[in-house]
Amino acid sequence: MKALVLAGGSGTRLRPITYTSAKQLVPLANKPILFFGLEAIAATGIREVGIVVGDTHEAIRAAVGDGSRFGLDVTYLRQEAPLGLAHAVLVARDFLGDEPFVMYLGDNLVVGGIEAFVREFETERPDALVLLTRVAHPEQFGVAELGPEGELVRLVEKPANPPSDLALVGVYLFDRHVHEAVRSITPSGRGELEITDAIQWLVDQGRVVRPHLLTTPWIDTGKLQDLLEANRIVLEAMERDVRGAVDDASRIEGKVLVEEGAKVVRSTVRGPAAIGRDAVVEDSYVGPFSSIAAHCEVIGSELEHSVLLEGARIEGMRRITDSLIGRGARVAHSDARPVSYRLMIGDHSDVAVP
Ligand code: TTP
Repeated sequence: MKALVLAGGSGTRLRPITYTSAKQLVPLANKPILFFGLEAIAATGIREVGIVVGDTHEAIRAAVGDGSRFGLDVTYLRQEAPLGLAHAVLVARDFLGDEPFVMYLGDNLVVGGIEAFVREFETERPDALVLLTRVAHPEQFGVAELGPEGELVRLVEKPANPPSDLALVGVYLFDRHVHEAVRSITPSGRGELEITDAIQWLVDQGRVVRPHLLTTPWIDTGKLQDLLEANRIVLEAMERDVRGAVDDASRIEGKVLVEEGAKVVRSTVRGPAAIGRDAVVEDSYVGPFSSIAAHCEVIGSELEHSVLLEGARIEGMRRITDSLIGRGARVAHSDARPVSYRLMIGDHSDVAVP
């Protein structure tokens, strides 16, 4: 079996972060989202992984390398434009050959891994196996309609009137028949080759598509609130590990990761929280569910339930919550007159001020 990991895409819902970086590399507890998927794949015993990359291919390659550190053998597959999940399968045709494979969306987090589904697929040998989970807003997902025997009858992408609350999770298992499916479908209204259409094609051809209801949490981190939720889940599962320097005037409460070279000075860090390599937290309060990446500086500030990407600096801010701050970004309090908000923010940024 092989694996196909999708790490291209346009990431419009996470702009402006995705203008300059890959959303799959946003860290949760200071580990890129993509690494959780690669580790889950490695745990199944699969070795050969194709990673579909787009405009951000350099950053993905730099982070993952040849995959050996995960025990994987990685091949990069360039997709010239984000033309859809089924298009990514087309791009991977030569790499995949006729072998069955697991397809994994590189910005998805499946708590508990994927080993059980891979084993089920190997044992039962359907033509495809799809994972479903109950969601509150099915109209935002690919939705499945099941028949009286629990069999998959129909799949619809982001339906206005969802036939169920069962959403397609971003992990799929296919045998070689999917290649004919992705060649047979045409682009959807949004101009993408949809994987839901390819799976529907398999159903219509009488192929065996087995649904599996997921009971552990699954998160598509493609939007800010979901990304923060994923960060929460990962931080909660982490162990306390303080390696950096914490001065006597500071308090570290609960599950906190302080990586090597990080400094905590006259501050309180209340876990679960992660502070990256060579980051500085000074005269500050870092509250639960915060991930502060390497080389960040949090000075005289209060921060909670937020993710700071590498080298971000927060100074004199009371208080920052529910935020994602980009690499090298600066957010500071200023007493300069006239009193006003002075902003230099990227295209499609999202700012809320009290
Ligand atoms: P999505 O999050 O569904 O799509 P997107 O990345 O284009 O984001 P948005 O809807 O916010 O514009 O993609 C799921 C995963 O698949 C993600 O890791 C990106 C990847 N992907 C590709 O590799 N190629 C593609 O053509 C598409 C659409 C997505």
